[in-house]
Amino acid sequence: MNFNIAIDGPAGSGKSTIANLLANKYDLMYINTGAMYRAVTLFAKENNIRPEDTEKLSKLINDLQMHFEKEKLIVNGEYVNDRITMPEISNSVSDYAKVQVVRELLVKAQKKLGKEYNVIMDGRDIGTNVLTDAKYKFFLTANPEERAKRRYLELTSKGIEVNYEDILNDIIKRDLIDSTREISPLKKADDAIEIDTSKLNIDDVVNYICEYIE
Ligand code: DC
Repeated sequence: MNFNIAIDGPAGSGKSTIANLLANKYDLMYINTGAMYRAVTLFAKENNIRPEDTEKLSKLINDLQMHFEKEKLIVNGEYVNDRITMPEISNSVSDYAKVQVVRELLVKAQKKLGKEYNVIMDGRDIGTNVLTDAKYKFFLTANPEERAKRRYLELTSKGIEVNYEDILNDIIKRDLIDSTREISPLKKADDAIEIDTSKLNIDDVVNYICEYIE
């Protein structure tokens, strides 16, 4: 069995930063599954495909060639990280991520990657649904205000103009949709280690996880 690590948690809990550092340390492929749902949202919106248009969504996803180079997601040869992290994508992504066909197709691709490579994968349903046999599972949390503050600093540091209250409201709305949807809601796996990162810095969390693994 491959050496796989699953990291789940809500938006802004620190998953991607921590997964990236652990990927370098343990020489794992980093799969940011939130980026995959965001890419589907980006291209669906660009093609005026609504979440209800399931046939068109299915065709769209089958036409998207996605792969990761370190933390970068490349879709049909285009580097998309900057475009998929824009607030208009964050506002709509949960509506596309709850569609059955979207989840089926992306989960199938994610499971395949977990079989073929040693991966660290982050998302909402990795420990419960995608990499159920992962050797290590972690569930990161933090209070909504702290998570909104992190997203605000991340976006403003890139020169993107945003309002803290809007980000906090978006995070609260996404938490609700992601954790109450019918298919694979955001949930801690029974065998995952829960870490509240509200008062911890990145190094604290990485050290904690490394000590646990080693
Ligand atoms: O991690 P993120 O904020 O970039 O994720 C974007 C959205 O994608 C999030 O609101 C819920 C959805 N998502 C999901 O439903 N399942 C995953 N495994 C990863 C993300």
